[in-house]
Amino acid sequence: GSISGGCPFSGNTDMRALFGRTNRDWWPDSLQLDILTQHGKTVDPFGGEFDYAEAFNTLDYNALKADIKALMTDSQPWWPADYGHYGPFFIRMAWHAAGTYRTGDGRGGASSGQQRFAPLNSWPDNGNLDKARRLLWPIKQKYGKNISWADLFVLTGNVAIESMGGPVFGFGGGRADVFEPETVYWGTEEQWVDTGAETRINPDEGKALENPLAAIQMGLIYVNPEGPGGNPHDAEGMARDMRETFARMAMNDEETVALTAGGHAFGKAHGAKPADTFGKAPEGEKLHTMGFGWLTDPEEIGKGHITTSGIEGAWTPNPTQWGNDYFRLLFKYDYELVQSPAGANQWQPINPDPEDMAPDARDPNKKVPTMMTTADMALKRDPEYRKISERFRDDQAALDDAFARAWFKLTHRDMGPKVRYLGPDVPAEDLIWQDPTPAGRHLSDADVAALKKAALDSGLTVAEMVKAAWASASTYRNSDHRGGANGARVRLAPQKDWAVNDPEELSKVLAKLQAIVDDATCGVSLADMIVIAGSAAIEKAAKDGGYDITVPVTTGRGDATQEQTDAESFEPLEPFADGFRNYLKTKASVKTEDMLIDRAHLLGLSVPEMTALLGGMRALGAVAKHADHGNRIGVLTDRPGVLTNDFFTNLLHMGTVWEVVDESGDEEFIGRCRLKGEEKWRATRTDLVFGSNSQLRAVAEVFAENGNEDLFIKTFVEAWTKIMDADRFDLTCAKYHK
Ligand code: HEM
Repeated sequence: GSISGGCPFSGNTDMRALFGRTNRDWWPDSLQLDILTQHGKTVDPFGGEFDYAEAFNTLDYNALKADIKALMTDSQPWWPADYGHYGPFFIRMAWHAAGTYRTGDGRGGASSGQQRFAPLNSWPDNGNLDKARRLLWPIKQKYGKNISWADLFVLTGNVAIESMGGPVFGFGGGRADVFEPETVYWGTEEQWVDTGAETRINPDEGKALENPLAAIQMGLIYVNPEGPGGNPHDAEGMARDMRETFARMAMNDEETVALTAGGHAFGKAHGAKPADTFGKAPEGEKLHTMGFGWLTDPEEIGKGHITTSGIEGAWTPNPTQWGNDYFRLLFKYDYELVQSPAGANQWQPINPDPEDMAPDARDPNKKVPTMMTTADMALKRDPEYRKISERFRDDQAALDDAFARAWFKLTHRDMGPKVRYLGPDVPAEDLIWQDPTPAGRHLSDADVAALKKAALDSGLTVAEMVKAAWASASTYRNSDHRGGANGARVRLAPQKDWAVNDPEELSKVLAKLQAIVDDATCGVSLADMIVIAGSAAIEKAAKDGGYDITVPVTTGRGDATQEQTDAESFEPLEPFADGFRNYLKTKASVKTEDMLIDRAHLLGLSVPEMTALLGGMRALGAVAKHADHGNRIGVLTDRPGVLTNDFFTNLLHMGTVWEVVDESGDEEFIGRCRLKGEEKWRATRTDLVFGSNSQLRAVAEVFAENGNEDLFIKTFVEAWTKIMDADRFDLTCAKYHK
């Protein structure tokens, strides 16, 4: 079971900044380009015009793979290949590119090539991967815009595995590069990981790993390989940390064992010298090191005297050959605790047979002992892991299959629906974690019009229909491209029961919409019907406000079954807060308005889009039911259900003064008539921030001004439609699969 606290953003009683520590905190002296990216200017050299998928489809994929394969054994004097083969090094690069993914918010992962930028380029756990990326530069340069760095990292990992005889399940391209570091919450600690430092899980202190984090310490991909806080004797804690952090990346026990053991069939750890004989991480290095970090004497590098993790040695006698030596050795020998030359804790087989010794990284004739990290030892010290390990030891085919599949999932999990994958190596098989959704039917304009009318005649209110459509579509996350209205998973577990969705109301609304679907002869899906009803409701609401508009609907969504839905994997999509519906589960360790910004970012919204959507939904009365005040919190209008800019005009009206309802809570406010003192409105932090924050206020003012009503309606409808269609990769990607 999971020991994590259920609440995202919790686990820390102090209020924290939304993004915790950022690059500027770590490297205050580094060059800041922000001044050049003001007023919406982009750092993207393609200026946003570039269609990467189209470029990828013109790539000579097989030639690229052949070049990558040749690179594996093309050892460079400035960073010689251990055992004459870069394969293991590149697997670690790809694994660390993908391994930052976390289910909690879908951020991290391989899909945008973030390993090139701070902080990831300088994380202690990514030590020396600057060299791996630089080895790839000639190939990246050769194939140019037809292969992104992000795709190249993963593909190189695949080619590495293949070239050493390992099993590969497939490859999907399509990860477009970005050109700046993404702002991601990586934690609040002021120190990079070091052994003995406090870890994020500590059951003795009642400390659970804070959501959405998926690593045990700042600067790690997952766990400390030497043991919890560097303690190699804490076998139980080691397994606990692995289980928790891998679960945060959507991996179960079997996948965890297969991945770790399969990965460590290859390569070696580096701990030949004390770490302090190496220079700073790249981001803090001198200008003329040209983005290289962790520098040391080139002669020492030539001799293989390298320190990365501080642990030293290979896991198996054949570090560039896929096989089952890892499990064979793990169970054949008892291991004793030793220290590497760099002083790290690691485990060494007692009295190994000569044929179970590993070659030296630079001299194949010299034999050295193999080793296991404390994390590897967990695969036999933990009873559950051990069962799986023993099975894999005795069944090579099972390990092959489990490793290949888990690697594919690891490296593709944040790409979203399978239709986004490109290239000749995309596996035919559908996988449950891809959230498969059946194709739907495209409806005629006449059918859509008839269905809109049926929705309006159903007796459902504007607010009910808008809320249902929002509940369905707004689970979408731009981070890992999961969620969204397609599939109508809002009617399935777990979404149908989320408090934010007002389950009782939702089930009533869905039943009425289902009845319309059942009566219809055009073959409309419930997924489409939910969106159609939302759009009909907004059109009615606009009309009641004097605006004759059409809210465009794109049909063709299908209804996924419960079997096509891994309910557990949807749990992290539950909003802890949804400012658009004025919903907050409980007070969190970040400000409620920060969580609105976070959600808007995951939805891919701009500031004006976020502002118009929120204000419009308030006017429509589309807020979650509040324990004390029903559905009127933040609904700053005398005519709820009509699409107006009342939210903004009333929010900014000088006739209202706001006071805190509950000083300790600081979450709810009463708006009173400035002259007479009587209560007019109730609102939350999420509402008042549009009057209090100077930048949000500037946008809110525009929507409140005379003459800008049309702009408000237009921005609202465009943002609404964007959310409804956010997951329609079945449409946007179809052209790449001709
Ligand atoms: C290397 C730890 C999971 C693939 C290493 C190193 C450590 C480590 C300490 C040595 C780095 C160095 O000093 O150069 C861990 C831990 C894991 C884990 C604690 C999980 C609990 C994985 C996974 C994969 C993987 C899932 C891939 C599927 C590799 C490879 C190397 C490596 C190929 C060798 C790199 C080289 O030869 O340069 N790992 N690892 N590891 N790891 Fe892992």
